[in-house]
Amino acid sequence: MASLQQQTLVIIGGSSGIGLRVAEMAADAGANLIIIGRNEQRLVAAQEQLQAHGVAVSTHAVDVHDHAALEALITALPPFNHLVSMVGDVMGGGFLTAPMATLRHVMESKFFTNVRIGQLAATKLLSGGSLVFTSGTGGRAQDACASYVGNLGINALVEGLAVEMAPDARVNAVSPTWTVTPFWREMPAEQLAATRQRFADAIPLGRTATLDELAQTYLFLLQNDFITGQHIAVDGGIMLGS
Ligand SMILES: NC(=O)c1ccc[n+]([C@@H]2O[C@H](COP(=O)([O-])OP(=O)(O)OC[C@H]3O[C@@H](n4cnc5c(N)ncnc54)[C@H](OP(=O)(O)O)[C@@H]3O)[C@@H](O)[C@H]2O)c1
Repeated sequence: MASLQQQTLVIIGGSSGIGLRVAEMAADAGANLIIIGRNEQRLVAAQEQLQAHGVAVSTHAVDVHDHAALEALITALPPFNHLVSMVGDVMGGGFLTAPMATLRHVMESKFFTNVRIGQLAATKLLSGGSLVFTSGTGGRAQDACASYVGNLGINALVEGLAVEMAPDARVNAVSPTWTVTPFWREMPAEQLAATRQRFADAIPLGRTATLDELAQTYLFLLQNDFITGQHIAVDGGIMLGS
């Protein structure tokens, strides 16, 4: 496996949830980190937590849905070895009832923003590096329509970029299914517990994922030099059920 020692890893969304756990694991593997998020307080807390691992950590508060701000940010960064994107808003509901504004927002967040991240990152990625995007699994076209299309979009994006960027760089994605993270911080505790149970019941392995099970997969894709164009579902087999 390729070493992350002294490599520079950019994590868009490294201040919370899955991305923060990826950052911790990468720091333990010796990577220096550039962490991007929107909320300043979360960035400061993440920086303190990650610096304790003995690596260099810088942070940037940018809303990457603003593509001009995203471009300015990536243009200003030094060249880097790897980039992980955790960006992608979600929705629930089918095509018949979803407001067009919601469909457009989710596609803009999940698909177009990540396309732009890929285009810009390609100009800064050092040879031998990689990109890892975040797709998703578990939702169906009839109950999470734009999320479902957005995830298909990410899966296509990694295939296209993998060929366009080879042999200099690799491009992959991880697909989590519903998992307890701060992503659901606005959800009332009772609803959170009920949703977790509903997913556990639908997942053949009978539970939802741990953060470590998800984060480990990003680390695996960053470090395995012969995997490109793949999206790996870490979902307990949810799509195999009825
Ligand atoms: N948790 C789940 O159930 C689940 C299931 C399937 C897929 N996913 C996907 O996994 C990804 C990460 O989820 P998570 O559960 O780890 O969520 P989280 O704890 O809310 O973390 C999301 C991270 O991304 C950053 N971020 C989000 N939008 C951003 C934007 N527009 N500009 C800059 N930074 C942004 C957040 O920063 P701020 O906090 O500052 O905004 C935060 O650091 C998302 O794409 C989500 O759709 C999650």
